[in-house]
Amino acid sequence: MSRDAPNDIETTMTNHVRIADFAANLGQTVTIRGWLYNARSSGKLLFLEIRDGSGIVQGIVSKNAVSEEVWNRAAALTQESSIIVTGMPREHPKRPGVYELDVHDLTIVQLTQDYPITPKEHGIEFLMDHRHLWLRSKRQHAILRVRHEVVRAVRDFLDNDGFILADTPILTPAACEGTTTLFELDYFDDGKAYLTQSGQLYNEATAAAFGKVYCFGPTFRAEKSKTRRHLTEFWMVEPEVAYATLEDMMVLAERFLSFIVARVLERRREELKLLERDTSKLEAIAAPFPRLPYDEAVRMLHEAHLAGKLEHDFVWGGDFGAPDETYLAQQFDRPVIVHRYPAQVKAFYMEEDPERPELALCMDVLAPEGYGEIIGGGQRMQSYDRLAQRIAEHNLPREAFEWYLDLRRYGTVPHAGFGMGIERCVAWLCGLEHVRETIPFPRMLYRLRP
Ligand code: 4AD
Ligand code: MG
Repeated sequence: MSRDAPNDIETTMTNHVRIADFAANLGQTVTIRGWLYNARSSGKLLFLEIRDGSGIVQGIVSKNAVSEEVWNRAAALTQESSIIVTGMPREHPKRPGVYELDVHDLTIVQLTQDYPITPKEHGIEFLMDHRHLWLRSKRQHAILRVRHEVVRAVRDFLDNDGFILADTPILTPAACEGTTTLFELDYFDDGKAYLTQSGQLYNEATAAAFGKVYCFGPTFRAEKSKTRRHLTEFWMVEPEVAYATLEDMMVLAERFLSFIVARVLERRREELKLLERDTSKLEAIAAPFPRLPYDEAVRMLHEAHLAGKLEHDFVWGGDFGAPDETYLAQQFDRPVIVHRYPAQVKAFYMEEDPERPELALCMDVLAPEGYGEIIGGGQRMQSYDRLAQRIAEHNLPREAFEWYLDLRRYGTVPHAGFGMGIERCVAWLCGLEHVRETIPFPRMLYRLRP
């Protein structure tokens, strides 16, 4: 049997409204175009949960108020059937701000058969395999609307703060964040190219041209780690500022994050409520954020170990693991800025602390509630000689970095920036276990489909 809709149905009529705009259409006859989310019946009444992408409304079909034909069509509807419904929106008698639709007419665009995702519980692998359909569910809808709000807040904040968006390339000739997580591909006569791990190096060039810039796009890490914080493809926003220091970045990061949190609380309350997010934790987020030197963090971790709160004894010189970050973050009620890590665990481009050259002028912002590092950044190496030396020490191909060294040959200045992963930020704001639900189609170690 063909699943195509009969082609005489008018699916693009112009007098339709979106569910989100019902408040402006009370008492008028409107037409909505969407899908059946769920249905239940009670004798002579049918309650249809109808979604149209902008929201979900309960449509009420009364046997006495519609033709027999319409009643039979409504009664036959299956989950995710596509439908066009005409009726009159009204406010729920007991719930102000909630609208219902008295259904007068209903057309079926397609009667869906055997929709795979039913209201019963499904395992995560099944849902991820059906991600293209799972996106229609209330919870996924709420998460992705928060993501959109985060992205909008990021842009609004930077655009209003004098930053210029200067997009950086995705295909690059060299590594930015270490060679172990590079995706490699063949690039014509040039040989190898790599998917970018960060736009930072190019950001440094555009910052020298425009002063304050940002790039915002997909970045790639061939991470062999299967954790709840790692994706192989994720979106990073990276501001970069000329004549700026590490301290300037701490101030920028705390203003930036506070703005994003406030914006999401202001505009996405409904979604956070649906996700059962404890918003009191987010209300507490306001600048200034505590600053924690790496040395001090190590001391806290060591003491936690002595007190039996952490299994392993952290030694100075390493990078923090997830349990370390979680423990540190738990000691504060807002994001904590850990700064001045040992240079040996950080990228080649980090400026060194003039007072203690073994430390890098860098920072990680750790989100509260165990969400780990959401921002990484710092001050960049300013001196030509020292940068050239670092490139050699890290065994990086010198010729691929000649243009980058030019930035130190011609008018070098102190400059700094950071990167924030959108998915980790959204996971934190939504209170999610795993980053996989924060992007429409996640890419992970064992997940390339759909
Ligand atoms: O700390 P990272 O690696 O920093 C950089 O790439 C710098 N070049 C950024 C800069 O200074 N312009 O990554 C920055 C952020 C992390 O804090 C985290 O939020 C996110 O990017 N991130 C990931 N998110 C999801 N999956 C992964 N595999 C991620 N790796 C980093
Ligand atoms: Mg980092």
